[in-house]
Amino acid sequence: MTQTCFLEGRGDVGEWRDAARRFLLAGVKPGEIDWRLCDEEQGLFGARGVDAGDSPRGHGENEQVARPISVPPAFLHLAEAVVCHADPGRFALLYRLLFRLREERHLLEVKSDADVVAAHRMHKSVGRDYHKMTAFVRFKEMPLPQGVAGRRRFIAWFEPDHFIVARVAPFFQRRFNDMDWIIATPRGSASWDGETLRTTTEPADKPDIRDETDELWRTYYASIFNPARLKVKMMMTEMPKKYWKNLPEADLIPGLIAGAEARVLDMGRRQASEPLPFHHRLQEAAAHLPPDAPAAEVGTIEALRQEARHCSRCDLHCRATQTVFGEGAVDARIMIVGEQPGDQEDLAGRPFVGPAGRVFDEALMLAGIDRQRLYVTNAVKHFKYEPRGKRRIHQRPNMGEVQQCRWWLTREIDLVKPKLIVAMGATALFSLTDAKDRLEDVRGRPIVMDNERTLFVTVHPSYLLRIPDEGRRAEELARFREEIRQLGRWAV
Ligand code: URA
Repeated sequence: MTQTCFLEGRGDVGEWRDAARRFLLAGVKPGEIDWRLCDEEQGLFGARGVDAGDSPRGHGENEQVARPISVPPAFLHLAEAVVCHADPGRFALLYRLLFRLREERHLLEVKSDADVVAAHRMHKSVGRDYHKMTAFVRFKEMPLPQGVAGRRRFIAWFEPDHFIVARVAPFFQRRFNDMDWIIATPRGSASWDGETLRTTTEPADKPDIRDETDELWRTYYASIFNPARLKVKMMMTEMPKKYWKNLPEADLIPGLIAGAEARVLDMGRRQASEPLPFHHRLQEAAAHLPPDAPAAEVGTIEALRQEARHCSRCDLHCRATQTVFGEGAVDARIMIVGEQPGDQEDLAGRPFVGPAGRVFDEALMLAGIDRQRLYVTNAVKHFKYEPRGKRRIHQRPNMGEVQQCRWWLTREIDLVKPKLIVAMGATALFSLTDAKDRLEDVRGRPIVMDNERTLFVTVHPSYLLRIPDEGRRAEELARFREEIRQLGRWAV
């Protein structure tokens, strides 16, 4: 006999999990449950069915004594993403998988199974939606009332395909930690006030947020648009037209694409230029502590960071804006080591805040690892680049530079004392071990080092961004995310 189960179904895995657990313990078969979403009427008059919290009717002889149900962690990970999908069939699909997993422990590895394929497709779609939201949310500043002092406030509107707001909110909390913000969407909203991250599942109305800052944004967008890197097809995939209506720069795009070829030729004619005219002033400011900043206690990571501000162990400090030192928990169990800061990190003075940082943050998010509990640093602390036009093109640090900078990395390791050190890419691996192994030979598994620390090697996230073939990029990205997920057990 069919039983109806009403769920709110707005991305909360706990709601589905509790209901599913009860059905499973009562021996209810997948075909016997009609999973429904509570619309308002059903919410009020839901007595016809089973609410997510009610006990289902079981099968007598099949009923089991309540006991924990063990499922592979990969299923939980999958379910957390799939419940965010907007497809009404997601709950039935997950229950079918759960039910089958009792007999087929390795079901999730059967890549040709129709249920597994469907769940992975939903997972992927939720991941894509997440990525789009991190890329296309545009904040508008809401001025404080006259005479009122306080943190700056921002608001944004976004239209996700799925119920991802709660999933993506911690990303915005980390990225925009020093301002108050609200992100409103038709599938729930999130807000941050410097202390509390709040999310709701209520649909929001679109606020009217067009104002003169749009013009500023458009000017900025046109100035950073790089015609030499224009890949129209890729751009359309990455920025589908449906997002354009909420982007102030959207109507510039066709014109910029049309003029791109001429601008590339022009760029080629121009000489390589020096960094920004006021660059030396930025460098000067970054090298010294502000006069009122307290000196850190000797022997701490903060003291090391202050010392590193005027590092001149190699020539890279001459052109970089500032030393980009490690950051994060000073007693972190996991230390992440990248290669060197990129363009955005050089300007912000923080590691992994640019495009590679976004890939890394997403992998952490999917793995349920809080970046603030890690210590994130680089093998080399200054940005190495070649000026080309007004752009600064990343250059790989050489062995000498890595060896000079190892002095800082070794001290960071001594002070933080991580249980696990993660080398992202070959430069980090070389800095940590002097080894020039192929990453492929050593990646993806813990390696005990001579000093009894454990090393884990994975690829550098920038490598993923450079893979031209979309299919291979998706595969490599999934592999990277899986490797980051493995770090979870060292985090606790
Ligand atoms: N790449 C790195 O290796 N480190 C950063 O901080 C940014 C990009």
